[in-house]
Amino acid sequence: MAETTYDLRGTPRHQAYELLETQLSMVLAGIDDDIVAMSTLSAMLHHGFGHLWTGFYRVVEPGRLRVGPYQGTIGCLEIAVGQGVCGKAAAERRTLVVPDVHAFPGHIVCDPRSRSEIVVPVFGRSGALIAVLDIDSAEPAAFDARDAAGLESLVRWFAAQPDVATAGR
Ligand code: SME
Repeated sequence: MAETTYDLRGTPRHQAYELLETQLSMVLAGIDDDIVAMSTLSAMLHHGFGHLWTGFYRVVEPGRLRVGPYQGTIGCLEIAVGQGVCGKAAAERRTLVVPDVHAFPGHIVCDPRSRSEIVVPVFGRSGALIAVLDIDSAEPAAFDARDAAGLESLVRWFAAQPDVATAGR
């Protein structure tokens, strides 16, 4: 059933992302609401992989990211573009994989248990940056190029809605 949250911790990474891709398109069929999609994707990734923190920082005005939707402990509410891992990924519009957050200059500590992190830019239909997807792990070096590719593919949902799906975006 599409609504079941998979436990993907024993599943090979490429297969896990394929499953999530299929599930996301099934669960979000007919949905045109970015917040619904961000909430759903956060829940799927967070509980599927058992991450420490999983969620979005949305671009709310030029230069400013605001937290939510997310799963996990309380996140920093706002981050300036350029600051921390999230802000750097937003400024450079590219995925950042950080195997050791303590070695990343300017890393913003929201949960001291975080050891590694990946941040993926999210683009909307116009091609503008609308958010970043931030995932933290309590394990060092939890993320690699397979996660970058899988997550970049998942967030293409936000840029790839049919024309009918423009209301409220
Ligand atoms: N560590 C992030 C801040 C967000 S939290 O981890 C939820 C950063 O450096 O941008």
